[in-house]
Amino acid sequence: MTDALGGFIGKGIGVYGSTGSIGTQTLEVARQLKGTKVVALSCKSNAKLMLEQIKIFKPKYAAVIDESGAEWLERRVKANGLKTEVLHGEREAINACTAEEIEIVVNAAVGIAGLVPTLQFIKNGKDLALANKESLVVGGRLVIPEAKKAGIKILPVDSEPSAVFQCMQGNDKGSIERLLLTASGGPFRGKSTKDLSSVTVSEALKHPTWKMGKRITIDSATLMNKGFEMIELHWMFDIPAEKIKVVIHPQSIVHSAVQYNDGNIIAGMGATDMKVLIQYALTYPIRIPNKFARLDLAGQALSFEEPDTDTFKCLDLAYSALRSGGTYPSVLNGSDEAAVQLFINGKIGFLDIQRLVSEALSDFKGNKEVSLENIMESDRWARAYVNAKVIG
Ligand SMILES: NC(=O)c1ccc[n+]([C@@H]2O[C@H](COP(=O)([O-])OP(=O)(O)OC[C@H]3O[C@@H](n4cnc5c(N)ncnc54)[C@H](OP(=O)(O)O)[C@@H]3O)[C@@H](O)[C@H]2O)c1
Repeated sequence: MTDALGGFIGKGIGVYGSTGSIGTQTLEVARQLKGTKVVALSCKSNAKLMLEQIKIFKPKYAAVIDESGAEWLERRVKANGLKTEVLHGEREAINACTAEEIEIVVNAAVGIAGLVPTLQFIKNGKDLALANKESLVVGGRLVIPEAKKAGIKILPVDSEPSAVFQCMQGNDKGSIERLLLTASGGPFRGKSTKDLSSVTVSEALKHPTWKMGKRITIDSATLMNKGFEMIELHWMFDIPAEKIKVVIHPQSIVHSAVQYNDGNIIAGMGATDMKVLIQYALTYPIRIPNKFARLDLAGQALSFEEPDTDTFKCLDLAYSALRSGGTYPSVLNGSDEAAVQLFINGKIGFLDIQRLVSEALSDFKGNKEVSLENIMESDRWARAYVNAKVIG
């Protein structure tokens, strides 16, 4: 919401996935952003953390998808004399974030579970601060037309699309020669296939520059996350995959860049602090001063290199899934979600993730045109395929 002079005077927000890495950082932003009212919170099961969030933000609604968590939360909310209405189940969690007072919803859920909420928020006319990249990876063909039809804004939260979005402001989109999508390279940059055969879960979870949720951290180690972001950029900015070039940039200072057809490159840079990017999504197009991390360029060395796609195969798998079209991206994401979970649970090795995703894409015979039903069916097929290969 803006005042008569266009100044930011706050917004009603809903946070879907408020207990995760992006969700908690969103609430830190909301806390210092004057006039911002947190109207609804949703999570899967972490009722304990949600209770603490309710005490601070006093939202109108708080939803926990898992029943036992919701029941526990409802009792604690009443015992604490809080007025928040506690809801339970996925539908209610989505509904909570479409309350009338909400202008913008932050979708900070992880995985394909974010797709249906994304579509519902759009249908309800809410602007969307989108962290859940999977919504676009598997459902970009549905989400973007729906957003256009509803006349809502999709504002990127992820650092790479946010950088591209900011570099595009005031420039002609038709003049874009290519997008330069940067990747830190993850904790295993420079390692050989032989080295990777024995890496552990805790080593894979040690991201060199960003602190994030588990799935995205493992996806960063395999480079699948970069593949997802390539697909995300393709849909969000309507740029063909051939014009999106991934560049390894270990320092994570350049969050991404846009190269224009006159040779000029505009780069989005900053500290590795998601709060800066979350705030921009919430206040766009206005910029508000804050006390979050600042990047001091003095003394910083920037380096860039080609990705090692012979060792890290997920990036090429993502390009191939996008080229194949239809519901192949659902198979890409579904097989990866399942394989990452198996890796975290100690059932498979690190290199098995890319092997299983590759086999799922090769063996998938049910490609269909993109609809919500077909996306979900391909996702189920991919998970079952991976689990059957490992667990039997
Ligand atoms: N973390 C980052 O810095 C970062 C940066 C860029 C983009 N992203 C993207 O942002 C999204 C969230 O990442 P994250 O790292 O914040 O994940 P995370 O820490 O794992 O948090 C996930 C959130 O989603 C909720 N959730 C889990 N399963 C759900 C389901 N089935 N339905 C609804 N909600 C569910 C969780 O609730 P519980 O806590 O109750 O399980 C939690 O609130 C991902 O798409 C990721 O790729 C993250």
